[in-house]
Amino acid sequence: MRKIHVIGIGAGDPDQLTLQAVKALRDTEVFFILDKGEVKADLVRLRRDILGTHLPQGTYRTVEARDPERDRTAEGAGYSPAVGDWRSARAGVFERLIAGELGEDGTGAFLVWGDPSLYDSTLGVLEEVLERGAVAFEYDVVPGISSVSSLAARHRTGLNRVARPVQITTGRRLAEGLPEGVDDVVVMLDAHQTFQRYADTGEDIDIYWGAYLGTPDEILVSGPLAETAPHIIEVRAQAREHKGWIMDTYLLRRRPRDEGASGPG
Ligand SMILES: C[S@@+](CC[C@H](N)C(=O)[O-])C[C@H]1O[C@@H](n2cnc3c(N)ncnc32)[C@H](O)[C@@H]1O
Repeated sequence: MRKIHVIGIGAGDPDQLTLQAVKALRDTEVFFILDKGEVKADLVRLRRDILGTHLPQGTYRTVEARDPERDRTAEGAGYSPAVGDWRSARAGVFERLIAGELGEDGTGAFLVWGDPSLYDSTLGVLEEVLERGAVAFEYDVVPGISSVSSLAARHRTGLNRVARPVQITTGRRLAEGLPEGVDDVVVMLDAHQTFQRYADTGEDIDIYWGAYLGTPDEILVSGPLAETAPHIIEVRAQAREHKGWIMDTYLLRRRPRDEGASGPG
């Protein structure tokens, strides 16, 4: 039976690879690397560096494939079908890679940015490949250090406050409003700096922002949202212009009116 490891590799710092991830790398013959285009070439390079650091040369193969483009213009009711079409196109690519590049008893791996459980489609796509039934395999998942863990660690803060919930969401969702009953909100996949909408509401909100976490280009900014938002927007625009791409994540923390419940814990 073919075997696939889905390996979380951390959010940018090669030192974030866990011992379990290194074991899984060493058990792998073929690594499937999906290239998302020019701007993400840095991320492909980082994956290659990770392999070069942990594995002796000549003991493994890498196979690169082009990740299908997603229709990023789809909005509203068209959004979910567009994501569904993209997943199916990815399933076709995964199927070809697994069937074409792995022997009947071969072991392959997908290296997943951060942790595979968080805003990543690899597990869903592998399930779709299995459902299609054209190629059979077993797979396991190695957890990784997510950008959310990295963000909290670099700002030396917890994500929740005493006995309170925390919500992880997207920029798209945040645009619909801050969630009810949740004062700590982690936002990922935000191309539009949605935090700006909450800078002038008069609410006491702090932001903990991080870009390129774990890489030599890492940028951290934190402070009261009303004062800090313009600075983040400027720094973000400059960094994006300079590198050609950006990945950023942030925590919005609403200060409770009852200060008794404040402080991480
Ligand atoms: C498709 S999601 C993948 C998340 C990933 N599975 C994880 O566990 O972090 C991509 C989003 O993760 C966040 N992200 C990933 N790596 C990051 C990094 N090094 N620095 C800042 N944000 C990062 C950004 O919000 C980016 O838009």
